[in-house]
Amino acid sequence: MNYIDKLEMPDTTKPILLFEEDDYQIYWLGLNEDSAFRVNVYLIKSGDEAVIVDPGNRNFFEPIKKEVIDILGDVNKVIGAVFCHQDPDVAASIVDWLDILPDMKVITSSRTNVLLPFYGIKGEYDFFDITQEFTFSNGKVLSFIESPFLHFPGAFTTYCNTSSFLFSGDIFAALDIEWSLIVEDFDTHKMAMDLFSKDYFASNIATRGYAMKIEDLRIEAILPQHGSIIPKKFVKNSIDYLKDLQCGLDIIYPYLK
Ligand SMILES: [Fe+2]
Ligand SMILES: [Fe+2]
Repeated sequence: MNYIDKLEMPDTTKPILLFEEDDYQIYWLGLNEDSAFRVNVYLIKSGDEAVIVDPGNRNFFEPIKKEVIDILGDVNKVIGAVFCHQDPDVAASIVDWLDILPDMKVITSSRTNVLLPFYGIKGEYDFFDITQEFTFSNGKVLSFIESPFLHFPGAFTTYCNTSSFLFSGDIFAALDIEWSLIVEDFDTHKMAMDLFSKDYFASNIATRGYAMKIEDLRIEAILPQHGSIIPKKFVKNSIDYLKDLQCGLDIIYPYLK
């Protein structure tokens, strides 16, 4: 069951269940920051295993760990974490997670994997390359869609085959002090997405190319790393937004088009 359309005034001081089907659940692990650059962390629980999506910065490690333990009972059920690219708001806490979970799978692209050790990771870790699907022990699958130059060359997004949720990282990110967990008005939200997308993304070729990759995919919700979750009713508007977006080099060098 997708709860995203049913959440009314959710209490964002604690984790929020977004999807549930048998022993498979997806949670928003919120942090109540007073910042326009608000970060979303998600937890996917599949049977007795769990994966964290974009665990975030080091300051959030303790509160996120507490929320994970509250949900799972035992932090050792976390078998991996997805890092959609290496930015510190996504990945700096990798050192803390590997400290307590040295066998955790680091699920990422090879270009991101080259850079993650620069956070000061000591020793080897278990790199899981997103050119393959990730399968939990109970058979549930996460697949990955590369999103080059949005905004990192090796960036990618994560598609959950069970919920049809798209964890989009910085794509569809929005910056706004006036925040709600779920997008309510798409026209207003577009302005908040512009504040991020126009500066961070390489060009319309990058955004349109990615939009074409996902336009035929069944998507029940888009879960970005910043800003609000996009419910199904605005998914098509969001993909059209990427198709039309003028950003990055389109704006900096308009005379070269
Ligand atoms: Fe980023
Ligand atoms: Fe980010």
